[in-house]
Amino acid sequence: MDVIICKDAAEAGRYAAAKIAMVAKEVGNRFVLGVATGSSPLRTYQALADLVDSGKLDISEGSAFALDEYVGLPKGHPESYAEVIRKTVTEPLHLKPENVHVPDGFAKDLKQAALDYDAAIKAIGGVDVQILGVGSNGHIGFNEPTSSLASRTRIKTLTPQTREDNARFFDSLEQVPHHCLTQGLGTIMEARNVVLVADGEHKAEAIAAVVEGPITSMFPGSVLQMHQHATIIVDEAAASKLKLADYYRDMLEHLPEWQRVKVA
Ligand code: F6R
Repeated sequence: MDVIICKDAAEAGRYAAAKIAMVAKEVGNRFVLGVATGSSPLRTYQALADLVDSGKLDISEGSAFALDEYVGLPKGHPESYAEVIRKTVTEPLHLKPENVHVPDGFAKDLKQAALDYDAAIKAIGGVDVQILGVGSNGHIGFNEPTSSLASRTRIKTLTPQTREDNARFFDSLEQVPHHCLTQGLGTIMEARNVVLVADGEHKAEAIAAVVEGPITSMFPGSVLQMHQHATIIVDEAAASKLKLADYYRDMLEHLPEWQRVKVA
């Protein structure tokens, strides 16, 4: 696991975008990006859009798969993740809408929709870089505490904590759905690279548990310790509870040239 501590959230976004762009260039036209919603990746999307707009990155032939979707929000609902991804990812990164996939939280047969989603990821050859945020309770995707570490895309019930955390996007807590479709931890772990971004003091405990805590389904993000290519990119506030912060800083300073990510 690589832990990158940046001075602020904007720098973390630029670092994450540079890392993603490096992989995209290696992969070429068949690049598959895994995308998250929520506040954490917004600066990464902005930095990626800057690379696209300045002609330094072109992923217009690539595909994207979202991590999750609420169950029951009607198509076109502004807080449905399909809409959020369209506005924050598809349009600014000039992806073709037909190449951007979000689980169908409005499907009649949700079980089948979940199976189909995993099958679609497999059929395309898997995700090259999965962008992640982390919930205050340690969830990645919507894999809430006690999710199986081997889980696949499926229906999950959101915890009261997650519904409260996400109520800021809705007019009231009552409007936040109770259920979602989410890629499983096993699905996420199959991405060839994962990049988790977090900023702010309120994420410090979650980051310490993901990076330095025991691997446990009580803190689902900790499963990333088993991933061979996981990069955790945080600002100073989110890094504030890391015991080995000085080591991570020292490691970044002394990275061999060939491992360096060139931040635009
Ligand atoms: C969203 C997702 C969630 C969020 C997490 C953090 O697609 O999968 O795991 O990444 O809830 O949300 P923010 O970034 O809003 O704090």
